This record gives sequence, structure tokens and C-alpha cells, in this order.
Amino acid sequence: MRLTIPVGLDRKEAEVYARLDPARFPHHIAIIMDGNGRWAKRRHLPRIAGHRAGVESVRATIETAVRVNLPALTLYAFSEENWKKRPRTEVAFLMALLQRYLKQEVPFMNENNIRLGYIGRAWELPTDVQECMTWAREVTARNTGMRLTLALNYSARSELVDAVNGLLQEYGGNGASPRIGEQDIARHLYTRGLPELDLVIRTSGEMRLSNFLLWQVAYAEIYVTSTLWPDFGGLHLLQAISEFQKRERRFGGLIESAPAPCAAAAASAAEMPGTTTK
Ligand code: FPP
Repeated sequence: MRLTIPVGLDRKEAEVYARLDPARFPHHIAIIMDGNGRWAKRRHLPRIAGHRAGVESVRATIETAVRVNLPALTLYAFSEENWKKRPRTEVAFLMALLQRYLKQEVPFMNENNIRLGYIGRAWELPTDVQECMTWAREVTARNTGMRLTLALNYSARSELVDAVNGLLQEYGGNGASPRIGEQDIARHLYTRGLPELDLVIRTSGEMRLSNFLLWQVAYAEIYVTSTLWPDFGGLHLLQAISEFQKRERRFGGLIESAPAPCAAAAASAAEMPGTTTK
């Protein structure tokens, strides 16, 4: 089946897109945006120049993702560890950059039907940043197109801790000790409501997940590129999708098969005696 090339792709993007298989398009891509500091260092610039350039890559990547109708894109912007381990001036810069980004990009999100959301402990961020985040989420809440999720003050281990605490709150007090299944945990993750994760991209060549979406990554494909985040853009996103389509996804079976339609179905299968899902 021939693909219609979406309006707005440049020539190189169109070439890669034309070779993609529409039937095997990912539903949810997450990106670990790494290498801003190294990009700046190579140019003898301060680290913040790398973060500023990184925002341009965020815009370019989202533009292409929207054009090719990607249903969900999640971007790892700041980890919980970033706050603790980076100089206060850099953290303050990143906070200001985020607020500026949201104010500037919300019109673009609305024009492109993007619905914005967040994962991470937003409640630990400065109040003015939280207010800006809430505003941006609310003004894009009616959009029905791509789900854009920013991971801010995010840690996968904290997400699991918060899910367990959510479960304790849900079941606590009634004296019963429930049997917790995968679907119960999935219901309490920050990512509830988002499609299953298909592909994780990491820029700058590091072979790590850095505490990102550790539950959700169970059957996702991982694609690492040596490109530094400020050099990444729509073409790189399409190249990652092309590589993704070459992978054989078996989900623990013998031949490529579709994943269970939802986490609950996968969980109930996992709980059937004698069934393995590894
Ligand atoms: C990692 O590069 C990047 C970050 C910690 C911040 C990511 C932020 C952006 C891409 C820009 C802001 C984004 C939004 C959505 C406003 P690094 O500094 O760890 O690079 P290094 O490993 O080369 O030092």
C-alpha cells in the first residue's frame, strides 16, 4: 500500500516516510532527550545554550510527529535526579525555559490539535511553574489529536512508589488484603490512559534508561542514536520509526503478534495458571 506523503515534510523526511509501513506505525514513542550539555561544550558555549537549542529540537520533533499522525509522544524533560544533582543556576534556567516554552508553544499546540499532559511529581515543582503547567494543560484539554506528555520531575521508581501508595489508599481501611494484579498497578501509573509504549529513543549514544518508564518499557523497542538532542529533529524521528519497523516484535511468543489490546487483558492472561508472558 502506498502512503500519501503528509503536507509539510521536507524532501528527506518524505523519502524516509515513503518507505514506512502504515500498518506497523508505532502508537506511542518516548524520547530521552540527552546531550544538550555536550552539544554546547563542543561549541565552547555554556550548558544553557545547549538547553536553549534543545527546545528547537523539541519543536521540530513535535511538528513531524503531528504531521505523521503519531498518536502519543512522551518527552523526558527533567528527571527527579536532575534537581538534586545539577547546579541551582542550571535548574533555575530550566524552570524558566519550561515556562517560556509553554507560553510560546500553547498556540502551536492548539493549532495542531495537540493535547498536553505531564508525568512526574509536578506538585514538588515551584508554584509558578505548576500554575503555568496547569494553564497549558487546561487550554489544550479539549484537543483530540496527538497526546504530548512532558516528563517533569519524573522518576520511574517514584512513579511505582506513588502507584503502590495509591493502591494502599484505594484498598486501605476495609480490612481486606486484596490480590493486586498488573492492571491495578497500571491504573495507578502516571501514564494511565496513554497507549502502550512501542518505542523508546535515546539520543547522545548512552545505553541506559535512566529511570524512565521502567514499567511501561516492558515490551517496547529501544533505539539509541549518537545524535545529540539539539541536532535531533523530524528526520531522526522518522529514521527511528523506520528502524522500529525492522524489528521483530514477539511479545514473548514465537512469531510477531500484536500486543494484548489493553494492559488489563495482558494482566489477566498473566494471572492464568500455566501461562507465561516473558
Ligand atoms: C539532557 O542533556 C537534557 C536535559 C536534562 C534537559 C532537557 C531539556 C530540554 C531538551 C529543553 C527543555 C525542554 C522543554 C520541553 C522545555 P544534558 O544536559 O544531560 O546533556 P549532557 O549529558 O551532554 O551533559
